[in-house]
Amino acid sequence: MSGAQATAFDDSSWRSLDVPHDWSIELQFNPNSPAGHGGGLLDGGIGWYRKTFTLDPSYSGQKIRIEFDGVYENSEVWINGTSLGTRPYGYSTFEYDLTPNLNAGASNVVAVKVDNSNQPNSRWYSGSGIYRNVWLTALNPVHIAYNGGFVTTPSVSATSATVSIAADVENQSTSSQSVTMTAEIDDATGVKVVSNTLAASSVAGSTTSTLTQSLTVSSPHLWSIDDPYLYRVKLTLQVNASTVDTYVVPVGLRSYDFDASKGFSLNGKSMKIWGMANHHDFGAIGTAYHYRALQRFMQVMKGMGVNALRTSHNPPVPELLDLADQMGFLVMDEAFDVWETGKNGLNDYHLYFTKWAQTDIQDFVRRDRNHASVIMWSIGNEIQGASTGTAANLMKWVKAIDSTRPVTWACNNMGDATNQAVAALLDLQGYNYLQNGSVTSPIFDGQHAAHPTWKIFGSEMESGARSRGFYSTADDNPSSWGNCDDSVMECSDYPDTNASPAGYEGMYVIENSRPWFAGEFDWTGFDYGGEPWPYANNAKSSYFGIVDTAGFPKNGYYFWQSRNTTAPMVHISPHWNWTSGTTVNVLVYSNCDSVELFLNGTSQGSKANTSTTTHLEWSVPWASGTLKAACTTAGTVAATDQVTTAGAPAKVGLSVDRTTIAADGRDLAYVTANVQDSAGVFVPTANSSITFAVSGPGKLAGADNGDPIDLTAFSSATRKAFNGKALAIVQSTGQAGTIVVSATSSGLTAGSLTANAM
Ligand code: GAL
Repeated sequence: MSGAQATAFDDSSWRSLDVPHDWSIELQFNPNSPAGHGGGLLDGGIGWYRKTFTLDPSYSGQKIRIEFDGVYENSEVWINGTSLGTRPYGYSTFEYDLTPNLNAGASNVVAVKVDNSNQPNSRWYSGSGIYRNVWLTALNPVHIAYNGGFVTTPSVSATSATVSIAADVENQSTSSQSVTMTAEIDDATGVKVVSNTLAASSVAGSTTSTLTQSLTVSSPHLWSIDDPYLYRVKLTLQVNASTVDTYVVPVGLRSYDFDASKGFSLNGKSMKIWGMANHHDFGAIGTAYHYRALQRFMQVMKGMGVNALRTSHNPPVPELLDLADQMGFLVMDEAFDVWETGKNGLNDYHLYFTKWAQTDIQDFVRRDRNHASVIMWSIGNEIQGASTGTAANLMKWVKAIDSTRPVTWACNNMGDATNQAVAALLDLQGYNYLQNGSVTSPIFDGQHAAHPTWKIFGSEMESGARSRGFYSTADDNPSSWGNCDDSVMECSDYPDTNASPAGYEGMYVIENSRPWFAGEFDWTGFDYGGEPWPYANNAKSSYFGIVDTAGFPKNGYYFWQSRNTTAPMVHISPHWNWTSGTTVNVLVYSNCDSVELFLNGTSQGSKANTSTTTHLEWSVPWASGTLKAACTTAGTVAATDQVTTAGAPAKVGLSVDRTTIAADGRDLAYVTANVQDSAGVFVPTANSSITFAVSGPGKLAGADNGDPIDLTAFSSATRKAFNGKALAIVQSTGQAGTIVVSATSSGLTAGSLTANAM
């Protein structure tokens, strides 16, 4: 394909689609894909998009800007046949001024070429296409520049908060303009708290000038992870008493600090960062941004008690930070996985780094700097060939845009002298893993002793392989990164009590006992496309997640929940489908004072949670029936969990996360299929083939089961249950009505449910 940028190009045979869009996820898995297993076995290639539009005459005299939140990768954009520019990095947000090339009152064509053919270029599934939002913005020639409003909170206390505003006012007209800026701060209910109008400033034609002011909020309602209260700063620009631009920034009033001996504190209170690193795909629907997919991902993370997210290893979709502000997450916002040196000889960003790094990192910081959730900038992950020169440049470029936040990186080789020198330049020292250290003597202990002023945290800790719901024996405690069964290429979901050097439980103990250790990010929250270690030559998606690609929790989810949430909870593993003569190692996570275990009503004893327990453990001779755990707090049973021996698969049970979704053509209903026996008991080993069908104003957007080695296309309506479960993602089509979802499986009673699109 060539020439599709020309206005007259005939695109009548092209498919019509909505962006955000990821074309790779629609493809069949290709075991010989140039993307490799690392890239998730999905091809890249070249794609073109065209959009024809006519501007309403009311926009005459306005500046028209097109903004791309992310295009993977190597995009070139044309308006009416004129190239506006190229952008190699697939995670950057960028904009172009369309105005000089627009046809007033006639049709206009935006053409975008996306070139993701230079493979492999990523260590994880990247997706392909215009996979984030695109915005067309109409502006008065006098306006606040793109991402040009900067709100900081230089001092925040319980009694008073200072809110500082710096707005880059761009005058794209040819004559000087007298501009008046008003800043108003509203509380979360929209009630005005304070406002201030600056004296008029003269901004010369074709220049940008920065207007600054400070406001004070008395007795502020502070932002925190438990109470993510947001004010709104509204900036209004006036010229000749008429409003030419308004610019709204949600603002969380909070202070935080990293201390070399006391660790992290938020609003003066010490706390540990317990975070998850994540890549950016949404399982079966790929990388295309959907509000609901992102919100669900973050709800799952919140539900497991995580208080922080790391955007490994690239700038996130911008809405992730909106939600992090609203839901109460701390964010390690990361720019790059490579600098000048590529990883594993890939065609990755190192090809573009020298030319583009300053633009990319400064655009990234300018975009994300108003978010209360963002507490640090990461300039790179496990950088090979790092130099102090490049680190100093990146740091300087970040600080030029935002000097209020610490800059860090994620380093997996602190034994290296150059890396030590780089770390010494940074504000925070991020460590990936124990490196050559051990549980009793992690590398960061020695580093803390050697550099008492370093502010140390775990940028990446605990990476283990596990398959949701999979157990090869009734006691497969891992002894290394996982306990994997090569015959089926699955890894045990047994809690990692013996994992070496340390699984999530071990790392938790190590870090929790070191007050100077600010906290950590685990590898990873959700499984992701690509990097299917240890079955790097067979599988398509990772085993590292604490939650699988479908969003179904593995056992580690309940560990984090037991540490970090307060609503009473208890969780039993493994399942209860064993054979006579088996002694089962039963592991229980709970946040209650104690747990009593019952097999068919007979107590197996009660065990107490102490300050040093990370799980409770019983050895129970298996007998068919029900194993129940009752957790007790202050003498009262507060929560229970049970596993029951299931018979043969007999039916498919369906449930949906929300029974009403928006009829906007974008919203999603997540339908879970559970294979059950004739009594309705979940069958934890079932692998029945299930076919989903959707009728009414909905369509199947993708189906999944969380199994890394299942190479059935995500777009297929038929897939096997994996350890009893499968998922259908149903998307509204744009009409209101009743969506009917059914799940059939040969020999089983079908399941069916309805959801409303409104
Ligand atoms: C880390 C790396 C991650 C991922 C992980 C797998 O070293 O930063 O991107 O590859 O290993 O264990």
